[in-house]
Amino acid sequence: MTITKSRSKNPKATPVAHPAWDNVLFFGSQEQEGACRIKSLCGEFVGTTGFFRYRSFQSALAKHMAESARQGIPQSQLEFPGSIGAGLASTAMFLEHHGAYSESCAPVRLEGIDIHEPFRDIFLANAYPLQMRHILRSGVKHDVFPERSGLSFFDAFMVASDGYMGLRPDIHRRITYHPSQDFRDFKPDTPFDYVTCFNLLRHLDDRQLRDNVLKILSFAHSAAFFNVADKPDQSSVHKAIENMGYISVNTAQMDGSQRDAMAKRLKPLGLDWLLRHSDIHAAVRPF
Ligand SMILES: C[S@@+](CC[C@H](N)C(=O)[O-])C[C@H]1O[C@@H](n2cnc3c(N)ncnc32)[C@H](O)[C@@H]1O
Repeated sequence: MTITKSRSKNPKATPVAHPAWDNVLFFGSQEQEGACRIKSLCGEFVGTTGFFRYRSFQSALAKHMAESARQGIPQSQLEFPGSIGAGLASTAMFLEHHGAYSESCAPVRLEGIDIHEPFRDIFLANAYPLQMRHILRSGVKHDVFPERSGLSFFDAFMVASDGYMGLRPDIHRRITYHPSQDFRDFKPDTPFDYVTCFNLLRHLDDRQLRDNVLKILSFAHSAAFFNVADKPDQSSVHKAIENMGYISVNTAQMDGSQRDAMAKRLKPLGLDWLLRHSDIHAAVRPF
């Protein structure tokens, strides 16, 4: 069993009176801006999660997928670990916002997995404490969808009732959350165009880093994305990616000329927008 470790000390849990939260504690006080901590009562699983943690990246990828879908190219994304679904919900909101779900588009699939069933149950119940809205990063609260003047993301894509908020049901239905399982046992029928794996590697055994990265790459047809903060040892991630013959893109480690060279490689794939995201480490499959 994978054990994820808590890094903050003894914060107080806020009670959530919804059956889906019977097995999970919610800590409204955030240890990172824009995120809340959750802890499972059945096992040792803890996690930090929240809506729009990587909003500019999530929006850029969703925009790219929407543009491709408009050109008639079906799109698929695996986002994991799914936790309670706040990240998946954020991605789905951006896909809706960029028009990826419009009738004239080719199909767009968004799927998630997580090892821990009570987290998945919260996603299925689609019941999030209203407090999660209040702990959004300050910048997110008012500017996620600025062009929808007068409507915050909450009003446009989330609905509140009985003291909870949930993703609009028509958007929620677009997400497939697989039965809980260890990602190392996951065998998708076909690879996904894009895989986002945020905040997982740090919880796993360092000795298996290479194998874990390779497993994640095996899910991805076009590109896999990791968040830079997930692993202090970025050079090991970089090596594993390059050893598999993928292009390793980590803007934070590039100088100007390396960026220009990378832009030339990424442009034909339509992924040059990646260079604006220094918080993302990408593995891009060369074509
Ligand atoms: C810190 S949370 C990250 C949640 C989300 N990706 C985010 O960034 O908001 C870590 C999650 O990893 C899940 N997890 C840990 N080991 C796993 C494994 N081997 N396979 C799948 N999920 C795992 C935990 O259940 C937990 O939900």
